[in-house]
Amino acid sequence: MRSRWCRAFPGVAEEVAHARHFVAALLHERGPAEDAVLVVSELATNAVRHTLSGSAGGWFLVVVGLGEDLVRIEVVDQGGRRVPHLCDATSEEEGGRGLRMIAACAKDWGVKSWPDGRSVWADLVREDA
Ligand SMILES: Nc1ncnc2c1ncn2[C@@H]1O[C@H](COP(=O)(O)OP(=O)(O)OP(=O)(O)O)[C@@H](O)[C@H]1O
Ligand SMILES: [Mg+2]
Repeated sequence: MRSRWCRAFPGVAEEVAHARHFVAALLHERGPAEDAVLVVSELATNAVRHTLSGSAGGWFLVVVGLGEDLVRIEVVDQGGRRVPHLCDATSEEEGGRGLRMIAACAKDWGVKSWPDGRSVWADLVREDA
């Protein structure tokens, strides 16, 4: 990675917009800002909705890594009982689309486990590379 930036946000839904602005401002003219904003939006929403990051006093971290050919968007959460997984595309249920959208637009994505949480990351190809 050539450069890396990181910022912590309070674990509330309203902060997801701030996470989007953070990524958009960083990637402005460095690309691929649109996909990166979509990815951080879904990941931050998941952190707040599905993990302890969304409980009182919770937080999530956004890490943006800029490589030669790729941009990595990573959201670190505070963990909990649920585990990130791709939902069945044929399911009639509402929801379950966020990680599928990320899988569709990312070159690669994955989950890392930490002692007190997880991070979900996605690598996007730089348009300008
Ligand atoms: N950071 C996370 N930690 C723990 N579990 C997660 C995390 N992100 C997602 N999950 C689990 O994976 C499932 C799929 O996530 P996904 O974002 O695809 O769908 P969703 O959040 O349920 O709905 P949508 O994103 O369409 O509003 C979630 O329902 C949740 O159970
Ligand atoms: Mg989601």
